[in-house]
Amino acid sequence: MQAATRTLDSTTAPAAPAASTTSFGYAEWAAIMDGRFRDVDSRWHGGEQFRTVIVGRSPAVARVLEDIDRVAATDSTVLLLGETGTGKELFASQIHERSVRHSRTMVRVNCSAIPSTLMESELFGRERGAFTDAHARQIGRFELADHSSIFLDEIGELSPEIQVKLLRVLEERQFERLGSPKPIHLDTRVIAATHRNLELRIADGTFREDLFYRLNVFPIQVPALRDRVEDIPLLVWRFVAEFSKTFDKTIESVSRDNLVELQRYRWPGNIRELRNAVERAMIVAKGPRLAIAVPSEHKTAVAHLSEKLVDVEREHIRSVLDSVRWRIRGVAGAAEVLGLPPTTLETRMAKMGIVRLKAG
Ligand SMILES: Nc1ncnc2c1ncn2[C@@H]1O[C@H](COP(=O)(O)OP(=O)(O)OP(=O)(O)O)[C@@H](O)[C@H]1O
Ligand SMILES: [Mg+2]
Repeated sequence: MQAATRTLDSTTAPAAPAASTTSFGYAEWAAIMDGRFRDVDSRWHGGEQFRTVIVGRSPAVARVLEDIDRVAATDSTVLLLGETGTGKELFASQIHERSVRHSRTMVRVNCSAIPSTLMESELFGRERGAFTDAHARQIGRFELADHSSIFLDEIGELSPEIQVKLLRVLEERQFERLGSPKPIHLDTRVIAATHRNLELRIADGTFREDLFYRLNVFPIQVPALRDRVEDIPLLVWRFVAEFSKTFDKTIESVSRDNLVELQRYRWPGNIRELRNAVERAMIVAKGPRLAIAVPSEHKTAVAHLSEKLVDVEREHIRSVLDSVRWRIRGVAGAAEVLGLPPTTLETRMAKMGIVRLKAG
């Protein structure tokens, strides 16, 4: 295909790669990413490796990548914070892959997926006979992650009992398998993530403050997609390239209007939601021009977004406040719903002149 026939019809995206989207090569992407393409050549080959590439050239992402650069080489605990679908797991992998521990596999634990009764032996292991059903010895995830990193995902969901145990292990840098008195030295880099506002969980008593401070050594706030809309065209093309392979389709262009429309949407599900939208579009695509539907339940909200951002924010805060009967603090209060500390929300409300007009 001739390079001249290809167009990337977008307001903010850089020039189109000079090759068919079905055959994007490392070099084209590297050129687009302007040195921020974090993959290495050897990992480019093979579809699965697509997933470890961080796409983004917005200032918001650049800041996160700088933080990752600073902290990756150390052994410090990292706490990744950010809404669902923002790429916390991807950034965790980057930290591990850029550390001296990279030759070993990072061990992942989803704290919300393992029942709390099994969590202790999952994390720290158990000896045979440690409890009635313990017929065999089990090596825990911390032991598996020896000389490597452990990714504690959804850390905000840990039960209080396990929070105490984890705190002890992080403080003493050693642990025992259940049913064994022998201490095992901890040589594991801890990376934790949550989409929760942990300060709010401390306030409502569901998360230990001392554990929070242990984890909060080097917090990294991963930006929401709506705060990095300039990355949307790049991300769209990244997913088009991926699904071009999956569905064996060639896409030539996405319209400028379509990209602008996507940039105006709020993306509550962030990059995961965008990826799904592109996948859906690719499934139904007939010709070389891709039309990506903006998720429907938010169409009315999108109509407002041609207005000033500050007006949209004011309206959003007001509608959240209405929906929680103007309760700011506590579980399911407006601050938690919005993912803000209550004091920040109050300051913002004062600045924007948001007041409750009538009781109700
Ligand atoms: N910068 C990025 N470039 C390319 N793909 C990305 C980027 N960020 C996220 N993704 C993709 O978006 C999806 C969601 O990312 P990920 O699972 O890391 O999010 P998360 O923050 O851990 O979400 P959750 O809180 O719901 O677990 C994945 O498919 C991931 O590969
Ligand atoms: Mg995740």
